[in-house]
Amino acid sequence: MATTYCAPDWQHYRMDYRNPHQVLEPEEREIAMVAEALTCLCEAGVLPHTCYDHEKMRAHRQAVRELFEIPWTAITPRMQRLLYAINAIVQPQCMIAAGVFCGNTFIANAGAAVGPGACYTARELLGVEIIPKEAARAERNVRRLDRSGVARVLAADAVQVVVEFPQPIDLLYLDADGAGSRGKGIYLDILEAASGKLPPGSVIMAHNSVNAAGSLAPYLDYVRDPTCFRASVNVILDGEGLEVSMR
Ligand SMILES: C[S@@+](CC[C@H](N)C(=O)[O-])C[C@H]1O[C@@H](n2cnc3c(N)ncnc32)[C@H](O)[C@@H]1O
Repeated sequence: MATTYCAPDWQHYRMDYRNPHQVLEPEEREIAMVAEALTCLCEAGVLPHTCYDHEKMRAHRQAVRELFEIPWTAITPRMQRLLYAINAIVQPQCMIAAGVFCGNTFIANAGAAVGPGACYTARELLGVEIIPKEAARAERNVRRLDRSGVARVLAADAVQVVVEFPQPIDLLYLDADGAGSRGKGIYLDILEAASGKLPPGSVIMAHNSVNAAGSLAPYLDYVRDPTCFRASVNVILDGEGLEVSMR
């Protein structure tokens, strides 16, 4: 089943990409918008429930603000909360995030299991970034927040990493931007390369389901095909969007 959750004000909810910590709305409003999205995901069968710890989320956000170097990001506060909450609810033992740039998207996912926002223990949380300089910065950022080493960033091509990954992937987060005309079309390459590693019930998330819907069309057609995926929800909390699908 393919559905959409659309926040009533998504077209007016805008961030300055170079000011990642700017407060865009009262926290209660942000929590309420994300709660509606989580309810929609729950009704679609992607999530088992909608509960996560708001205090831990606050601690996670504060740590990222204090410890991360973020030159720019398109992850809005609503998206940061949504990614954290989905990971806190799904509790993936193994999570891979593809195309993590400075690590902000990666830690929004991994922060549910490491650092002050941790609410469960994961086995392996891997961020993959193809540009070595960016991967090194992302790894530096992550190391300041996670002393355990469970979350780490690898300088590599995400397609290759998922092909060679030796165990099931419980949650796959896609945010890579392929070279040349491939652009966000690379999501489908990564998903297909990971296909044999995604067990039933695994969750796949794709950033930019709204502002890159054109280049993502073949990917979106695939995850919204009920013969291939159990459910898929286009979560539109902001102008970027997140497609959340379940195998
Ligand atoms: C647009 S950025 C993601 C930024 C993120 N949405 C944010 O707001 O913080 C996409 C990243 O994917 C990386 N990338 C592109 N192709 C990749 C691949 N095949 N494997 C891993 N990373 C890749 C790029 O180098 C870039 O840093």
